[in-house]
Amino acid sequence: MAAKLDLAFVRSHFPAFKEPSLFGQAFFDNAGGSYACQSVIDHLDQYYRETKLQPYHLHPASQKAGAQMDLSHERLASYLNVDASEVHLGPSSSQNTYVLAQAFGKVLVVGDEIIVTNQDHEANIGVWRALEKKGLVIKEWQVDPATGSLHLDDLKGLFSKRTKLLVFTHCSNVVAEINPVAEICQLARAANVATVVDGVSYAGHGLPDVNALGADIYLLSLYKAYGPHLGVMVIRHAMAETLGNQSHYFNNAYRHKWFVPAGPDHAQVAASRGVLDYFDALHDHHFAPTTSAQEKSQRVRRLMLDAEQALLSRLIEFVDQHPKLRLIGPNDATKRAATVSIIPQGQTPQELAKKLVEQGIICGAGHFYAVRLLEAMGIDPNTGVLRLSFVHYTQAEEIDQLIAALEKALA
Ligand SMILES: Cc1ncc(COP(=O)(O)O)c(C=O)c1O
Repeated sequence: MAAKLDLAFVRSHFPAFKEPSLFGQAFFDNAGGSYACQSVIDHLDQYYRETKLQPYHLHPASQKAGAQMDLSHERLASYLNVDASEVHLGPSSSQNTYVLAQAFGKVLVVGDEIIVTNQDHEANIGVWRALEKKGLVIKEWQVDPATGSLHLDDLKGLFSKRTKLLVFTHCSNVVAEINPVAEICQLARAANVATVVDGVSYAGHGLPDVNALGADIYLLSLYKAYGPHLGVMVIRHAMAETLGNQSHYFNNAYRHKWFVPAGPDHAQVAASRGVLDYFDALHDHHFAPTTSAQEKSQRVRRLMLDAEQALLSRLIEFVDQHPKLRLIGPNDATKRAATVSIIPQGQTPQELAKKLVEQGIICGAGHFYAVRLLEAMGIDPNTGVLRLSFVHYTQAEEIDQLIAALEKALA
């Protein structure tokens, strides 16, 4: 039988739930950034007090600082099922895609083609589209305007002999439908096309097995997955070799520095391992011990997803049947992440969000940097959508609170 998430245990790992100024406030803006877990906060605090100096130098405190950073790379790699040297920790995913696009711009030649979607967050569209100025051809894998979904048949027709790169999202931050990443990457590989997958909206719901997905490059933002404000970029070895070192030439021996020319925030890198401390604790509390890192990662992912699904079905059903609400994305909870975008009738998403905030619901409204998607769906990006997003630590009572608040605000 599947393990059931112990919510009291989960919530005891998040100081925000003990914070008096947040009591009674139901948090539905997780897609913007999740609460940080205790272990991350402890590691940050400890780093700043004990090891806030140049890492990897001779002094034991300096050595300890470096060792903590290495540990974060190793532990992230083990959860993502890749090698530690394939994990790059940059300032954000937007910064990471910018570096990536510069790198691809140096190896692709005039006439080469890149396929982008109009479903992605702008962080994984604009930097690629900008390469048009260098003579690269940008093709668009377009969403179905009625649903916001991407269809595989539309993609197949876009591949040509000149296609070098396919850039898409694991899960849109507005539509929330989970795209079949493994299948798409396989199609791309068969056509000799490299893949960049934006997993930022997915990762808070469970760190994926990047190896199994088959992406050449996979991105996520740790601040939306209980960690510090960093972007994780997995670049598989063969892809890294093709692109080459983008950082200082003398750092060539350090692969994990190749795509982080900004230089890392040492304390945040060291504290990143706190996310995995938390996942380990989740695992050990709910399951028998295992020596397989992948089994552990998979169990934790399943545990979190299952907990979200029941609540998600309830919220979606409410929104879908409400005469004054339009649900964006599929009405089947199993097909999507726990991010629910809504367009209300008779008031703007901003007006509705304000009424919810007044009732203790933390949420936001707008285009969420998915302007091209909204335009394709005929939605005015100036008003956009109301977005309600939650994760595994959300409890049924908060969904009740949200639904009651929505009912009042729509009456
Ligand atoms: C789906 C998606 N991709 C990319 C980004 C950009 O991430 P970052 O804030 O780390 O640059 C975001 C941020 O909201 C996002 O939601």
